[in-house]
Amino acid sequence: MAGPTRDFWEARFSSGSMPWDRGGPNPQLQCWIDAGCITAEQRVIVPGCGQGWEVAAMARAGIRVTGLDYAPAAIDACRALLTANQLDAQLCVADVLAWKPPMPVDAVYEQTCLCALHPDHWQRYAEQLHAWLRPGGSLMMLVAQVPSEGSAHGFIKGPPYHCDINAMRSLFPASRWDWPKPPYPRSPVGPGTELALVLTRL
Ligand SMILES: C[S@@+](CC[C@H](N)C(=O)[O-])C[C@H]1O[C@@H](n2cnc3c(N)ncnc32)[C@H](O)[C@@H]1O
Repeated sequence: MAGPTRDFWEARFSSGSMPWDRGGPNPQLQCWIDAGCITAEQRVIVPGCGQGWEVAAMARAGIRVTGLDYAPAAIDACRALLTANQLDAQLCVADVLAWKPPMPVDAVYEQTCLCALHPDHWQRYAEQLHAWLRPGGSLMMLVAQVPSEGSAHGFIKGPPYHCDINAMRSLFPASRWDWPKPPYPRSPVGPGTELALVLTRL
């Protein structure tokens, strides 16, 4: 399989080497909750949830959230965060490219999992996200904007892999997803920035 392995991510969590982790929930999540994009009682999946700051924030807001990650150390850290805050959420150690929810959900909160996957897997992942959502469900995405000089020469660099907007339109085509008009909010994260997109599954 092209790209980083499960052991790569497991080692990051086990050694505490997580430069992407901001130590709290992404402020964009609260913007989306305030805007009514996700509401209490809705069923939401967080693929590649990592330590799970957003899983905990959603659980606190009364959202029925499922955190998914294939690194057991990430899920252990997420469980510890929930327990420390007396919060409840469903957690699964599973591969986002293979896992299926028992029933379609209302929303997916995709924060830098796509950019953790080698582009060879993007089509499969986009199919999964579509299958997980009910028609009319929301895909809230924070996609990494990390263009590299090497890409001008054909090199694919990552993780994080740059999520160019043209690639996003191709992965999530207007025939299957409703796109709002740009400009989209950008939020700073680590060395790059994230583009905040909310797509509706048709
Ligand atoms: C860059 S980290 C982001 C973590 C979290 N979303 C955050 O923003 O703090 C990427 C996460 O995706 C997980 N991941 C990568 N590939 C995965 C896969 N195929 N299935 C499940 N999780 C995966 C990694 O274990 C890691 O926790």
